[in-house]
Amino acid sequence: MARKNIAAGNWKMNTTVNEGLDLYKSLSEHDVPSDVTVIVGAPFIHLSSLVANKHDNIKIAAQNCHFENSGAYTGEISPSMLADLGVDYVILGHSERREYFNEGNDLLAKKLNAALSNDLSVIFCCGEPLEIRKAGTQNAYVAKQLEEGLFHLDASQLKDIVIAYEPIWAIGTGETASPEQAQDMHAFIRSILDQKYGSDAAQDMSILYGGSVKPANAKEIFGQEDVDGGLVGGASLKADMFKNIIDSF
Ligand code: 13P
Repeated sequence: MARKNIAAGNWKMNTTVNEGLDLYKSLSEHDVPSDVTVIVGAPFIHLSSLVANKHDNIKIAAQNCHFENSGAYTGEISPSMLADLGVDYVILGHSERREYFNEGNDLLAKKLNAALSNDLSVIFCCGEPLEIRKAGTQNAYVAKQLEEGLFHLDASQLKDIVIAYEPIWAIGTGETASPEQAQDMHAFIRSILDQKYGSDAAQDMSILYGGSVKPANAKEIFGQEDVDGGLVGGASLKADMFKNIIDSF
């Protein structure tokens, strides 16, 4: 997809179905600027209610999916189920999935293929932990995540991908990467896309920053040249805060 401004919320394991629906309806009433794409990532059991109340302005994402379309995988949800329901996006490779559920790059590559083959768009997450940032090796760390998880795709498949850079040390901590740190990493990600896929593909990729994005810092972060928006956790759970972030481009 051509490069877009994107405000994506990741509700994580929060809200009841009714609370999520209220939040979605409240966002639907917002006058979303025409150059901003808004996405909300909701728990699985919320998705059918959200789809039934779907508003063109607010795209719907799942937060995970399996790599098979069906089978004996108790408790799992498949990409074909999500696509059939009318879900638009799936978030893959969130650091919480990588860390707490041992999702590695090989598994994520399989999930990514399965999602794309079901015509789901993907928000593909990457980002380093604190010790890697302290050691100064974050570029190599993120490059490896993308090379192993994403770079098996061909250039034509990138149109359905959004990359989210989420430094783990900034998630839910209140500590945000500085606008310069975000810009440096986003420019680096674009440079490795450029090397692999060429400049048109690199320039077309939307790269989001995630990690303690709030109304107070969104404008400055989104204003960086290579930052195309945010993947927002905590602040996406409050309609007023998220609307404010949507208006920060
Ligand atoms: P916070 O905005 O709560 O730091 O979460 C970021 C995140 O993990 C979004 O996916």
